[in-house]
Amino acid sequence: MERKIPEHIGIIMDGNGRWAKQKGLSRSEGHKAGANVFRRICEYAGEIGVKYITFYAFSTENWRRPPDEVNALMNLFRAYLDEAEERQEENLQKGMRIHFIGHREGVPTDIIERFETTERDSRAADKIDVNIAINYGGRLEIVDAVKKIAQKVKDGEINPEDITEQDISDNIYTAGQADPDLIIRPSGEYRLSNFLIWQSAYSEFWFSDILWPDFTEADLDRAIDDFNNRNRRFGGV
Ligand code: IPE
Ligand code: IPE
Ligand code: MG
Repeated sequence: MERKIPEHIGIIMDGNGRWAKQKGLSRSEGHKAGANVFRRICEYAGEIGVKYITFYAFSTENWRRPPDEVNALMNLFRAYLDEAEERQEENLQKGMRIHFIGHREGVPTDIIERFETTERDSRAADKIDVNIAINYGGRLEIVDAVKKIAQKVKDGEINPEDITEQDISDNIYTAGQADPDLIIRPSGEYRLSNFLIWQSAYSEFWFSDILWPDFTEADLDRAIDDFNNRNRRFGGV
């Protein structure tokens, strides 16, 4: 039987800190290594025909980390965004359309400006939609959607009794995209940590002890192979 490629894959890029510790490096070095793996896996996903991929890069809870670590992560985002700008042509050729999902308030304004530039300049790409979740929290995403819908009720555009699940889906950050078929979390943790909680209602989960900086294309293949052996019933028989 031919291998089915999930249409949308979500990845929680976890384990950078423990990877660095094992090697006697700083946590920032771990994040740097993790960012390189992100670049590789992103390209590979496009090559094998994944249509949407969402990477969890920074949660609404990650602001609780020491300021030095938060700064190092913000600088990595800046470096990635600058590089994306330089490689605009190459990324377009690879068909990578980039979206930033998350709560924009609270993110340094120079990074927001870079998000907007990268989103604008990759808009014409149509092979793979790459969502990068920064200052992302699934609960805050639902709160943001509820606020938008409440405003529509207030403006008389919609009746409360007519609100449907689709209205929520249409007002979250991933509006218009397929829900994730497969969610991957390395690093030996078995939780979502507030990632895509609305969208993952029927996702398949794949957990592994691999630390994110050690994650390879072969691991993504393994996750997809396992996904192919799952029996998705969606409540049916
Ligand atoms: C994931 O790696 C990166 C972010 C959450 C930003 P961690 O930094 O959480 O790595 P561990 O979990 O401490 O190993
Ligand atoms: C989840 O990892 C967030 C990202 C990978 C960006 P964390 O390391 O923050 O999750 P917890 O704290 O272990 O749940
Ligand atoms: Mg972690």
